[in-house]
Amino acid sequence: MCRKFLATLFLFCTAAGAAVAQESDADLGKAVYDMHCSGCHGTGLRNPGTSFDLKELTADERARFDAGVLDGKNMMPPWRGTIAEAELDQLWAYIREYAYE
Ligand code: HEC
Repeated sequence: MCRKFLATLFLFCTAAGAAVAQESDADLGKAVYDMHCSGCHGTGLRNPGTSFDLKELTADERARFDAGVLDGKNMMPPWRGTIAEAELDQLWAYIREYAYE
């Protein structure tokens, strides 16, 4: 009975581990976005009209993105120290997936 339980637990953990391993940068970026950015930049990147439409950023504006997020701009708060470098990559991947161009 105990062995069967352990075998089930093993299968469950392996499956869960595989699911986590498959999460893309964009998926992880969405989670970071939902937690820190969606309040001002809109649910699902839909610009509420009160901030900046992140989908307007073009592929060559990564440096602008990093500077804006890390240092802030006017009403946009700085995220240096809160957002890790890996999370910046993930956010960027998420935004690029929905960008206009
Ligand atoms: C408190 C509201 C608020 C939050 C939270 C917020 N932003 Fe902003 N963000 C703004 C506003 C307002 C602007 C427009 C700033 C301006 O141009 O005056 C902006 C602008 C930006 C810009 C463009 C900067 C530029 O170069 O023009 C980027 C990139 C950005 N935000 C990314 C993010 C990301 C990523 C997050 C989450 C980590 C986030 N923001 C969270 C309000 C917010």
